[in-house]
Parts: sequence; structure tokens; C-alpha cells
Amino acid sequence: MVIFNNVVKYYENLKVLRDISFQITKGEMVFVTGPTGSGKTTLLKLIYLAEKPDEGEITVGDFKVTSLKKSEIPYLRRNIGIIFQDFKLIKNMTVFDNVALSLRIKKEKDIKNLVYEALKKVHLRHKADSYPKILSGGEQQRVVIARAIVAKPELILADEPTANLDPNTATAIMQLINEINLQGTTVIIATHYRELFRNTWKRILRIDEGNLIERA
Ligand SMILES: Nc1ncnc2c1ncn2[C@@H]1O[C@H](COP(=O)(O)OP(=O)(O)O)[C@@H](O)[C@H]1O
Ligand SMILES: [Mg+2]
Repeated sequence: MVIFNNVVKYYENLKVLRDISFQITKGEMVFVTGPTGSGKTTLLKLIYLAEKPDEGEITVGDFKVTSLKKSEIPYLRRNIGIIFQDFKLIKNMTVFDNVALSLRIKKEKDIKNLVYEALKKVHLRHKADSYPKILSGGEQQRVVIARAIVAKPELILADEPTANLDPNTATAIMQLINEINLQGTTVIIATHYRELFRNTWKRILRIDEGNLIERA
């Protein structure tokens, strides 16, 4: 599903990723970890082409990301659900409209059913007509997850998905992401927060000074 071959990424003089290679199989759930500033967000951004690598090759599904034309980027992104802190909910739109937005842009049919299906999965069907500001932090994050899964992407990228949540809420969010993964979606979670993967048997890729180390 995701293949990195000898990927190198610089920001000006700063070499963030030195020579990264890994493969993630369809249906897997993988953690990418490492301290703040180690390049976790950058690694996720390379996958959906918000950043370009300076060297190496990246493949996502059928897309050779590194040789994709600009006009083809939307097709790549169509298949990726993104749970990032910089993609906040839109305040003056209801929960329903926030989740529906990407479908409307794509002129998807059957929007109503898809949105309610996604809201049901995150247990927020009853909040469809609410505005984000009346929801708790955990509920807002569940809306963000609904928005990421509504178009049924094959791959979900989650960047620090439990940041700013209390421990119980964080656990519930992780359970939800687990359930989505069990239904067949490939998931990559970037986090510096060790509690999230303390008891997991899932793969953990750690970025250490620009190199990737896989926990045995
Ligand atoms: N757009 C950018 N321009 C310049 N430097 C950046 C940019 N984005 C991130 N960096 C730097 O790259 C390093 C890795 O950042 P990031 O991928 O956000 O790390 P993490 O998500 O692990 O905290 C940091 O030193 C950060 O300051
Ligand atoms: Mg980050």
C-alpha cells in the first residue's frame, strides 16, 4: 500500500529524513514515532504529496507519488483520509456539512447516506445538526475521523490524533481508529506519545536522527 525507497527530505539545509525505506501492506496499522521535530509529520506529508522528497521513490497504492503530475494529485488524495491538526472543522458549518464537504467538492452521489454512515461509525449520528463549538474535544475529533473516512479511503493518515485529549477520550479515539483498521483500512499513525502504542503488537517505525528504525 505504501512503499518508501531510499527517501531523503531536506528543508533548506536541514536534512530531516536521511535515507528512509519501508513498506506497509494493505490492511496494516503502523505507528510512526520519534521525538518532536524528528520528521513524523513530514513523513506523512510526503505520502499525500504536501511535501516532495529530494531523493528516492514513494509509491502509494497504484500511484508512483514521486512522478505524479500535478493534475493527478487529487486522484491520489481521493484515496487517503487525513486526520491532521491543521485541518480543523469549519466553525460555521454543522457536523453534517463538515463531513459532507469533500463529497460535495467531488460531486459524489448519495452524500446523505455516506455522511450518516460515517457519523454512525463514530457514534455521532445524533449530532449531525450541531455546530462544532458545542461539542467536546473528543466529539470534535470523532467528527474529524468521520470526515476522513466518509469517502471510504483505502489509507488513513493520522497525525497526533489524540493530542489535546484527556487519557480516557484518547483511549476511545484509539479504539475507533482500531475498528476502522479492522474493517480493512490501512492506517498510519504518527505520534510522539508512547502511551498510544505501549501495549500494541502492531508495527512501530521510529525516526531517529533522520533514520528509520523498526521495533522488532
Ligand atoms: N515547512 C518547513 N520548513 C522548514 N522546516 C520545517 C518545515 N516543516 C518542518 N520543518 C522542520 O523539520 C523538522 C521535522 O518536522 P516535523 O516533520 O514536523 O516533525 P515531527 O512531526 O516529528 O514533530 C523540524 O525540525 C521542523 O522544524
Ligand atoms: Mg508532527
